[in-house]
Amino acid sequence: MLDTPNSSTLAHTATSDSPDFSVPIVLGMIGLGTVGTGVYKILSRRTDLVFHQIAVRSLKKERDLPGLDSERLTDNAKSIVSDPAIQVVIEVMGGVDEARPLVIEAFKNGKHVITANKELIAKHGAELFDLAKARNVRLMFEGAVAAGIPIIMPLKLSLAANNILEIAGILNGTTNYMLTQMAEENWNYEEALLQAQKKGFAEADPTSDVGGHDAAYKISILASIAFKKRIDMKHVYCKGITSVTATDIQLAESLGYTIKLIGLCRQAEAGQLDIRVHPVLVEHDHPLASIKNENNAIWIKGDAVGDVMFYGKGAGEMPTASAVCADLLAVTTDLHKGNDPIPSMEIETTGFANILPVTETKNKYFVRLHTADHPGVIGLIGTACGEFGVSLESIVQHGIHEEDGTASIVFITHELAEKQMLKALDKIKADPAIQKLGCVLRIL
Ligand code: HSE
Repeated sequence: MLDTPNSSTLAHTATSDSPDFSVPIVLGMIGLGTVGTGVYKILSRRTDLVFHQIAVRSLKKERDLPGLDSERLTDNAKSIVSDPAIQVVIEVMGGVDEARPLVIEAFKNGKHVITANKELIAKHGAELFDLAKARNVRLMFEGAVAAGIPIIMPLKLSLAANNILEIAGILNGTTNYMLTQMAEENWNYEEALLQAQKKGFAEADPTSDVGGHDAAYKISILASIAFKKRIDMKHVYCKGITSVTATDIQLAESLGYTIKLIGLCRQAEAGQLDIRVHPVLVEHDHPLASIKNENNAIWIKGDAVGDVMFYGKGAGEMPTASAVCADLLAVTTDLHKGNDPIPSMEIETTGFANILPVTETKNKYFVRLHTADHPGVIGLIGTACGEFGVSLESIVQHGIHEEDGTASIVFITHELAEKQMLKALDKIKADPAIQKLGCVLRIL
Protein backbone atom coordinates (compact mmCIF):
# COMPACT_ATOMS: atom_id res chain seq x y z
CA MET A 1 0.00 0.00 0.00
CA LEU A 2 1.17 3.50 -0.68
CA ASP A 3 2.42 5.51 2.23
CA THR A 4 -0.25 8.20 2.26
CA PRO A 5 -0.01 10.78 5.05
CA ASN A 6 -3.15 9.41 6.69
CA SER A 7 -2.30 5.76 6.21
CA SER A 8 -2.30 5.24 9.94
CA THR A 9 -5.78 6.67 10.41
CA LEU A 10 -7.18 4.95 7.36
CA ALA A 11 -5.28 1.69 7.61
CA HIS A 12 -6.77 -0.87 5.27
CA THR A 13 -6.83 -4.42 6.41
CA ALA A 14 -8.05 -5.61 3.01
CA THR A 15 -6.10 -8.01 0.89
CA SER A 16 -6.08 -7.67 -2.89
CA ASP A 17 -8.73 -10.41 -3.02
CA SER A 18 -11.18 -8.70 -0.72
CA PRO A 19 -11.41 -4.96 -1.14
CA ASP A 20 -12.61 -3.28 2.02
CA PHE A 21 -15.09 -0.61 0.97
CA SER A 22 -16.17 0.02 4.57
CA VAL A 23 -13.25 2.38 5.14
CA PRO A 24 -13.93 5.34 2.89
CA ILE A 25 -11.24 6.97 0.76
CA VAL A 26 -11.02 10.66 1.62
CA LEU A 27 -11.23 13.14 -1.24
CA GLY A 28 -10.62 16.82 -1.73
CA MET A 29 -11.85 18.64 -4.81
CA ILE A 30 -10.62 21.96 -6.18
CA GLY A 31 -13.40 23.53 -8.23
CA LEU A 32 -17.15 23.17 -8.14
CA GLY A 33 -18.03 24.61 -11.55
CA THR A 34 -19.52 22.63 -14.44
CA VAL A 35 -17.23 19.61 -14.14
CA GLY A 36 -16.95 19.67 -10.34
CA THR A 37 -20.73 19.70 -10.05
CA GLY A 38 -20.94 16.63 -12.29
CA VAL A 39 -18.28 14.85 -10.23
CA TYR A 40 -20.13 15.68 -7.02
CA LYS A 41 -23.41 14.34 -8.45
CA ILE A 42 -21.82 11.01 -9.43
CA LEU A 43 -19.90 10.57 -6.19
CA SER A 44 -22.75 11.57 -3.91
CA ARG A 45 -24.26 8.16 -4.76
CA ARG A 46 -21.32 6.41 -3.06
CA THR A 47 -20.44 5.78 0.55
CA ASP A 48 -16.94 4.44 -0.02
CA LEU A 49 -15.62 7.81 -1.21
CA VAL A 50 -16.17 10.91 0.90
CA PHE A 51 -15.49 14.56 0.26
CA HIS A 52 -13.55 16.05 3.11
CA GLN A 53 -13.25 19.50 1.56
CA ILE A 54 -14.23 21.19 -1.70
CA ALA A 55 -12.59 24.46 -2.71
CA VAL A 56 -14.83 27.01 -4.43
CA ARG A 57 -14.24 30.54 -5.72
CA SER A 58 -17.12 32.04 -3.76
CA LEU A 59 -18.68 30.69 -0.58
CA LYS A 60 -21.65 32.99 -1.13
CA LYS A 61 -22.83 31.39 -4.40
CA GLU A 62 -26.15 29.49 -4.15
CA ARG A 63 -25.69 25.80 -5.04
CA ASP A 64 -28.49 23.37 -5.58
CA LEU A 65 -26.62 20.18 -4.75
CA PRO A 66 -28.56 17.77 -2.53
CA GLY A 67 -26.61 16.60 0.50
CA LEU A 68 -23.84 19.17 0.05
CA ASP A 69 -22.65 20.17 3.51
CA SER A 70 -21.64 23.83 3.37
CA GLU A 71 -19.18 23.12 6.19
CA ARG A 72 -17.17 21.13 3.67
CA LEU A 73 -16.71 24.14 1.37
CA THR A 74 -13.66 26.35 1.57
CA ASP A 75 -12.35 29.23 -0.50
CA ASN A 76 -8.80 28.24 0.33
CA ALA A 77 -7.62 25.68 -2.24
CA LYS A 78 -4.24 25.41 -0.49
CA SER A 79 -5.89 23.84 2.53
CA ILE A 80 -7.00 20.92 0.34
CA VAL A 81 -3.53 20.03 -0.89
CA SER A 82 -2.06 20.30 2.60
CA ASP A 83 -4.83 18.61 4.64
CA PRO A 84 -3.35 15.32 5.94
CA ALA A 85 -6.77 13.64 5.90
CA ILE A 86 -7.12 13.94 2.13
CA GLN A 87 -5.77 11.04 0.06
CA VAL A 88 -6.87 11.98 -3.45
CA VAL A 89 -7.21 15.48 -4.91
CA ILE A 90 -9.58 16.10 -7.83
CA GLU A 91 -8.45 19.22 -9.68
CA VAL A 92 -11.25 20.61 -11.84
CA MET A 93 -10.57 24.34 -11.55
CA GLY A 94 -8.85 24.64 -14.98
CA GLY A 95 -6.12 27.09 -15.99
CA VAL A 96 -2.45 26.74 -15.18
CA ASP A 97 -1.18 29.55 -12.96
CA GLU A 98 -3.15 28.51 -9.90
CA ALA A 99 -3.57 24.81 -10.66
CA ARG A 100 0.10 23.94 -11.26
CA PRO A 101 1.47 24.92 -7.82
CA LEU A 102 -1.51 23.25 -6.14
CA VAL A 103 -0.92 19.96 -7.97
CA ILE A 104 2.80 20.13 -7.16
CA GLU A 105 2.01 20.72 -3.50
CA ALA A 106 -0.47 17.84 -3.50
CA PHE A 107 2.23 15.49 -4.83
CA LYS A 108 4.73 16.76 -2.25
CA ASN A 109 2.17 15.92 0.42
CA GLY A 110 1.75 12.37 -0.91
CA LYS A 111 -1.64 12.79 -2.57
CA HIS A 112 -2.82 11.26 -5.82
CA VAL A 113 -4.25 13.76 -8.33
CA ILE A 114 -7.04 13.36 -10.85
CA THR A 115 -7.36 16.25 -13.28
CA ALA A 116 -9.32 17.22 -16.38
CA ASN A 117 -6.94 20.07 -17.08
CA LYS A 118 -5.66 19.78 -20.66
CA GLU A 119 -3.65 22.99 -20.56
CA LEU A 120 -1.83 21.83 -17.45
CA ILE A 121 -0.98 18.43 -18.92
CA ALA A 122 -0.07 19.81 -22.37
CA LYS A 123 2.25 22.48 -20.96
CA HIS A 124 3.60 20.88 -17.78
CA GLY A 125 2.94 17.16 -18.12
CA ALA A 126 6.62 16.15 -18.16
CA GLU A 127 7.39 18.04 -14.94
CA LEU A 128 4.29 16.71 -13.19
CA PHE A 129 4.81 13.08 -14.20
CA ASP A 130 8.41 13.23 -13.00
CA LEU A 131 7.32 14.61 -9.66
CA ALA A 132 4.46 12.13 -9.26
CA LYS A 133 6.88 9.29 -9.99
CA ALA A 134 9.42 10.59 -7.49
CA ARG A 135 6.73 10.82 -4.79
CA ASN A 136 5.14 7.47 -5.72
CA VAL A 137 1.72 9.00 -6.31
CA ARG A 138 -0.57 8.91 -9.33
CA LEU A 139 -1.59 11.53 -11.88
CA MET A 140 -4.61 10.69 -14.05
CA PHE A 141 -6.15 12.84 -16.79
CA GLU A 142 -8.62 10.89 -18.96
CA GLY A 143 -11.07 13.82 -18.74
CA ALA A 144 -8.53 16.23 -20.22
CA VAL A 145 -9.05 15.04 -23.80
CA ALA A 146 -12.50 14.71 -25.35
CA ALA A 147 -14.28 14.54 -21.98
CA GLY A 148 -16.36 11.37 -21.81
CA ILE A 149 -14.64 9.53 -24.66
CA PRO A 150 -12.12 6.99 -23.40
CA ILE A 151 -9.02 7.84 -25.43
CA ILE A 152 -5.96 8.18 -23.19
CA MET A 153 -5.99 4.59 -21.91
CA PRO A 154 -7.01 3.09 -25.29
CA LEU A 155 -4.20 4.98 -27.03
CA LYS A 156 -1.65 4.04 -24.36
CA LEU A 157 -2.71 0.45 -23.88
CA SER A 158 -5.12 -0.95 -26.46
CA LEU A 159 -3.23 0.46 -29.46
CA ALA A 160 0.24 -0.07 -27.99
CA ALA A 161 1.18 -2.66 -30.62
CA ASN A 162 0.78 -0.14 -33.45
CA ASN A 163 2.97 2.47 -35.00
CA ILE A 164 0.47 5.30 -35.09
CA LEU A 165 0.53 6.91 -38.51
CA GLU A 166 -2.07 9.63 -38.11
CA ILE A 167 -4.57 11.11 -35.65
CA ALA A 168 -7.30 13.51 -36.75
CA GLY A 169 -9.73 14.65 -34.11
CA ILE A 170 -12.74 16.83 -33.56
CA LEU A 171 -11.59 17.76 -30.09
CA ASN A 172 -13.65 20.78 -29.16
CA GLY A 173 -17.36 20.46 -28.47
CA THR A 174 -18.08 24.20 -28.50
CA THR A 175 -16.77 24.79 -32.01
CA ASN A 176 -18.24 21.59 -33.40
CA TYR A 177 -21.63 22.63 -32.01
CA MET A 178 -21.22 26.09 -33.55
CA LEU A 179 -20.14 24.81 -36.98
CA THR A 180 -23.00 22.28 -37.01
CA GLN A 181 -25.57 24.95 -36.18
CA MET A 182 -24.10 27.38 -38.70
CA ALA A 183 -24.40 24.67 -41.39
CA GLU A 184 -27.81 23.29 -40.47
CA GLU A 185 -29.68 26.30 -39.06
CA ASN A 186 -27.84 28.98 -41.01
CA TRP A 187 -26.98 30.75 -37.73
CA ASN A 188 -24.29 33.37 -37.78
CA TYR A 189 -21.13 33.02 -35.69
CA GLU A 190 -22.32 35.20 -32.79
CA GLU A 191 -25.64 33.37 -32.41
CA ALA A 192 -23.88 30.01 -32.46
CA LEU A 193 -21.36 31.06 -29.80
CA LEU A 194 -24.05 32.43 -27.50
CA GLN A 195 -26.01 29.17 -27.66
CA ALA A 196 -22.86 27.08 -27.03
CA GLN A 197 -22.11 29.17 -23.95
CA LYS A 198 -25.69 28.82 -22.70
CA LYS A 199 -25.40 25.06 -23.01
CA GLY A 200 -22.26 25.06 -20.83
CA PHE A 201 -19.90 23.69 -23.51
CA ALA A 202 -17.59 26.68 -23.72
CA GLU A 203 -14.66 27.47 -21.43
CA ALA A 204 -15.06 30.44 -19.06
CA ASP A 205 -13.18 32.42 -21.70
CA PRO A 206 -14.38 31.07 -25.07
CA THR A 207 -11.24 32.38 -26.81
CA SER A 208 -9.59 29.09 -26.01
CA ASP A 209 -12.40 27.21 -27.79
CA VAL A 210 -12.95 29.41 -30.85
CA GLY A 211 -9.25 30.23 -31.16
CA GLY A 212 -8.35 26.53 -31.37
CA HIS A 213 -6.10 26.50 -28.26
CA ASP A 214 -8.28 24.02 -26.38
CA ALA A 215 -8.04 21.61 -29.34
CA ALA A 216 -4.29 22.30 -29.62
CA TYR A 217 -3.71 21.21 -26.01
CA LYS A 218 -5.68 18.04 -26.66
CA ILE A 219 -3.99 17.03 -29.92
CA SER A 220 -0.60 17.75 -28.31
CA ILE A 221 -1.41 15.36 -25.45
CA LEU A 222 -2.55 12.68 -27.90
CA ALA A 223 0.50 13.23 -30.11
CA SER A 224 2.90 12.93 -27.19
CA ILE A 225 1.35 9.57 -26.26
CA ALA A 226 1.12 8.27 -29.82
CA PHE A 227 4.52 9.44 -31.05
CA LYS A 228 6.36 9.31 -27.69
CA LYS A 229 7.70 12.84 -28.06
CA ARG A 230 7.25 15.95 -25.96
CA ILE A 231 5.39 18.67 -27.83
CA ASP A 232 6.43 22.27 -27.42
CA MET A 233 3.12 24.12 -27.70
CA LYS A 234 4.89 27.18 -29.13
CA HIS A 235 5.51 25.25 -32.36
CA VAL A 236 1.98 23.89 -32.80
CA TYR A 237 0.22 25.88 -35.54
CA CYS A 238 -3.19 26.88 -34.24
CA LYS A 239 -6.00 28.70 -36.05
CA GLY A 240 -9.55 28.76 -34.80
CA ILE A 241 -12.93 29.27 -36.42
CA THR A 242 -13.38 33.00 -35.89
CA SER A 243 -13.09 33.76 -39.60
CA VAL A 244 -15.20 30.87 -40.87
CA THR A 245 -18.38 32.28 -42.40
CA ALA A 246 -21.79 30.77 -43.06
CA THR A 247 -21.12 31.51 -46.77
CA ASP A 248 -18.05 29.26 -46.79
CA ILE A 249 -19.87 26.54 -44.87
CA GLN A 250 -22.75 26.56 -47.38
CA LEU A 251 -20.37 26.63 -50.39
CA ALA A 252 -18.29 23.78 -48.98
CA GLU A 253 -21.47 21.76 -48.37
CA SER A 254 -22.57 22.30 -51.97
CA LEU A 255 -19.21 20.93 -53.14
CA GLY A 256 -19.47 17.79 -50.99
CA TYR A 257 -17.55 18.91 -47.90
CA THR A 258 -18.32 19.89 -44.35
CA ILE A 259 -16.14 22.34 -42.38
CA LYS A 260 -14.70 21.04 -39.09
CA LEU A 261 -12.11 22.28 -36.62
CA ILE A 262 -9.58 19.46 -36.68
CA GLY A 263 -6.55 18.66 -34.53
CA LEU A 264 -4.20 16.76 -36.79
CA CYS A 265 -0.99 14.90 -36.13
CA ARG A 266 0.91 12.68 -38.52
CA GLN A 267 4.39 11.41 -39.05
CA ALA A 268 6.04 13.53 -41.76
CA GLU A 269 9.19 12.81 -43.73
CA ALA A 270 12.62 12.77 -42.07
CA GLY A 271 11.24 12.06 -38.61
CA GLN A 272 9.35 15.34 -38.38
CA LEU A 273 5.89 15.57 -36.86
CA ASP A 274 3.13 17.43 -38.69
CA ILE A 275 0.91 18.68 -35.85
CA ARG A 276 -1.62 21.50 -36.15
CA VAL A 277 -5.13 22.73 -35.46
CA HIS A 278 -7.24 24.62 -37.98
CA PRO A 279 -10.58 24.47 -39.78
CA VAL A 280 -10.60 22.01 -42.66
CA LEU A 281 -12.96 20.82 -45.33
CA VAL A 282 -13.80 17.17 -44.73
CA GLU A 283 -15.39 15.12 -47.51
CA HIS A 284 -18.94 14.07 -46.70
CA ASP A 285 -18.05 10.38 -46.75
CA HIS A 286 -15.17 10.72 -44.23
CA PRO A 287 -16.21 9.37 -40.80
CA LEU A 288 -15.37 12.72 -39.14
CA ALA A 289 -17.87 14.58 -41.36
CA SER A 290 -20.80 12.93 -39.60
CA ILE A 291 -19.82 14.12 -36.09
CA LYS A 292 -22.31 16.79 -35.09
CA ASN A 293 -22.96 19.29 -32.31
CA GLU A 294 -20.94 19.01 -29.10
CA ASN A 295 -19.79 15.49 -29.95
CA ASN A 296 -16.11 14.80 -30.43
CA ALA A 297 -14.40 12.05 -32.37
CA ILE A 298 -10.83 10.88 -32.69
CA TRP A 299 -9.92 9.02 -35.87
CA ILE A 300 -6.68 7.07 -35.64
CA LYS A 301 -4.72 5.21 -38.28
CA GLY A 302 -2.41 2.50 -36.92
CA ASP A 303 -0.12 0.31 -38.99
CA ALA A 304 -1.66 -2.88 -37.60
CA VAL A 305 -5.22 -1.97 -36.63
CA GLY A 306 -5.98 0.21 -39.67
CA ASP A 307 -8.55 2.96 -39.03
CA VAL A 308 -10.41 3.25 -35.72
CA MET A 309 -12.65 6.03 -34.47
CA PHE A 310 -13.66 6.95 -30.91
CA TYR A 311 -16.86 8.97 -30.62
CA GLY A 312 -18.91 10.58 -27.89
CA LYS A 313 -19.64 13.74 -25.95
CA GLY A 314 -16.56 15.92 -25.74
CA ALA A 315 -17.85 18.61 -23.42
CA GLY A 316 -20.36 19.23 -20.69
CA GLU A 317 -20.94 18.47 -17.03
CA MET A 318 -21.68 14.74 -16.89
CA PRO A 319 -19.52 13.47 -19.82
CA THR A 320 -16.41 15.11 -18.33
CA ALA A 321 -17.36 13.95 -14.84
CA SER A 322 -17.72 10.42 -16.21
CA ALA A 323 -14.03 10.38 -17.20
CA VAL A 324 -12.83 12.10 -14.01
CA CYS A 325 -14.73 9.63 -11.83
CA ALA A 326 -13.44 6.66 -13.84
CA ASP A 327 -9.86 7.78 -13.13
CA LEU A 328 -10.74 8.23 -9.50
CA LEU A 329 -12.22 4.74 -9.27
CA ALA A 330 -9.17 3.24 -10.97
CA VAL A 331 -7.02 4.70 -8.18
CA THR A 332 -9.37 4.22 -5.25
CA THR A 333 -10.33 0.64 -6.04
CA ASP A 334 -6.68 -0.27 -5.60
CA LEU A 335 -6.46 1.81 -2.43
CA HIS A 336 -9.46 -0.10 -1.11
CA LYS A 337 -7.74 -3.35 -1.95
CA GLY A 338 -4.61 -2.25 -0.14
CA ASN A 339 -2.65 -2.34 -3.44
CA ASP A 340 -0.49 0.28 -5.02
CA PRO A 341 -2.89 2.09 -7.35
CA ILE A 342 -2.58 1.42 -11.08
CA PRO A 343 0.36 3.27 -12.59
CA SER A 344 -0.14 6.89 -13.61
CA MET A 345 -1.09 7.70 -17.15
CA GLU A 346 2.52 8.71 -17.48
CA ILE A 347 3.43 9.89 -20.96
CA GLU A 348 6.76 8.28 -21.79
CA THR A 349 8.71 10.39 -24.24
CA THR A 350 12.16 10.51 -25.79
CA GLY A 351 12.88 14.22 -26.16
CA PHE A 352 11.05 16.97 -28.01
CA ALA A 353 9.35 16.41 -31.36
CA ASN A 354 10.85 18.10 -34.40
CA ILE A 355 7.70 19.86 -35.64
CA LEU A 356 7.21 20.50 -39.34
CA PRO A 357 6.51 24.22 -40.00
CA VAL A 358 3.03 24.69 -41.44
CA THR A 359 4.48 26.31 -44.60
CA GLU A 360 6.21 23.00 -45.31
CA THR A 361 3.04 20.91 -44.97
CA LYS A 362 1.23 19.50 -48.00
CA ASN A 363 -2.50 19.98 -48.42
CA LYS A 364 -5.33 20.40 -50.86
CA TYR A 365 -6.92 23.87 -50.66
CA PHE A 366 -10.33 25.52 -50.98
CA VAL A 367 -10.07 29.17 -51.99
CA ARG A 368 -12.84 31.77 -52.36
CA LEU A 369 -12.10 35.08 -54.07
CA HIS A 370 -13.99 38.34 -54.51
CA THR A 371 -13.28 39.33 -58.12
CA ALA A 372 -14.41 41.61 -60.90
CA ASP A 373 -17.17 39.97 -62.93
CA HIS A 374 -15.65 40.17 -66.44
CA PRO A 375 -14.07 37.86 -69.02
CA GLY A 376 -10.58 36.53 -68.37
CA VAL A 377 -10.67 36.47 -64.56
CA ILE A 378 -10.79 32.69 -64.32
CA GLY A 379 -8.02 32.57 -66.92
CA LEU A 380 -5.71 34.83 -64.92
CA ILE A 381 -6.28 32.75 -61.78
CA GLY A 382 -5.44 29.58 -63.71
CA THR A 383 -2.29 31.17 -65.16
CA ALA A 384 -1.03 32.37 -61.75
CA CYS A 385 -1.65 28.93 -60.27
CA GLY A 386 0.16 27.25 -63.16
CA GLU A 387 3.17 29.52 -62.73
CA PHE A 388 3.72 28.19 -59.19
CA GLY A 389 2.89 24.55 -59.90
CA VAL A 390 -0.58 24.74 -58.34
CA SER A 391 -2.77 22.19 -60.09
CA LEU A 392 -6.50 22.96 -60.01
CA GLU A 393 -9.10 20.26 -59.41
CA SER A 394 -12.01 22.62 -60.10
CA ILE A 395 -12.78 26.31 -60.50
CA VAL A 396 -16.32 27.73 -60.60
CA GLN A 397 -18.09 31.07 -60.25
CA HIS A 398 -20.74 30.86 -57.52
CA GLY A 399 -22.81 33.94 -58.27
CA ILE A 400 -22.25 37.38 -56.79
CA HIS A 401 -21.32 38.34 -53.20
CA GLU A 402 -24.34 40.22 -51.84
CA GLU A 403 -22.26 42.50 -49.61
CA ASP A 404 -20.04 44.04 -52.32
CA GLY A 405 -21.39 42.91 -55.70
CA THR A 406 -18.16 41.10 -56.62
CA ALA A 407 -18.10 37.70 -58.31
CA SER A 408 -17.58 34.76 -55.96
CA ILE A 409 -15.00 32.48 -57.54
CA VAL A 410 -14.13 29.26 -55.76
CA PHE A 411 -11.35 26.87 -56.65
CA ILE A 412 -10.09 23.60 -55.24
CA THR A 413 -6.51 22.44 -55.78
CA HIS A 414 -4.75 19.11 -55.87
CA GLU A 415 -2.30 18.46 -53.04
CA LEU A 416 0.73 20.75 -52.92
CA ALA A 417 3.18 22.36 -50.52
CA GLU A 418 1.72 25.29 -48.59
CA LYS A 419 4.56 27.61 -49.59
CA GLN A 420 3.67 27.09 -53.29
CA MET A 421 0.05 27.93 -52.55
CA LEU A 422 1.06 31.11 -50.74
CA LYS A 423 3.18 32.27 -53.69
CA ALA A 424 0.34 31.66 -56.13
CA LEU A 425 -2.08 33.54 -53.86
CA ASP A 426 0.30 36.51 -53.64
CA LYS A 427 0.37 36.67 -57.43
CA ILE A 428 -3.43 36.32 -57.69
CA LYS A 429 -4.07 39.03 -55.06
CA ALA A 430 -1.78 41.47 -56.86
CA ASP A 431 -4.02 41.50 -59.96
CA PRO A 432 -6.43 44.49 -60.09
CA ALA A 433 -9.30 42.19 -61.09
CA ILE A 434 -9.05 40.47 -57.70
CA GLN A 435 -10.74 42.58 -55.06
CA LYS A 436 -10.28 40.42 -52.01
CA LEU A 437 -9.27 36.99 -50.79
CA GLY A 438 -12.50 35.68 -49.20
CA CYS A 439 -11.17 32.56 -47.59
CA VAL A 440 -8.45 29.91 -47.85
CA LEU A 441 -9.04 26.60 -46.11
CA ARG A 442 -7.11 23.35 -46.16
CA ILE A 443 -8.84 20.12 -47.11
CA LEU A 444 -8.31 16.97 -45.02
N1 HSE B 1 -14.71 23.75 -23.86
C1 HSE B 1 -14.36 22.40 -24.17
C2 HSE B 1 -15.08 22.02 -25.44
C3 HSE B 1 -14.76 21.46 -23.08
O1 HSE B 1 -15.90 22.79 -25.92
O2 HSE B 1 -14.83 20.95 -25.95
C4 HSE B 1 -13.74 20.58 -22.53
O3 HSE B 1 -12.46 20.74 -22.93
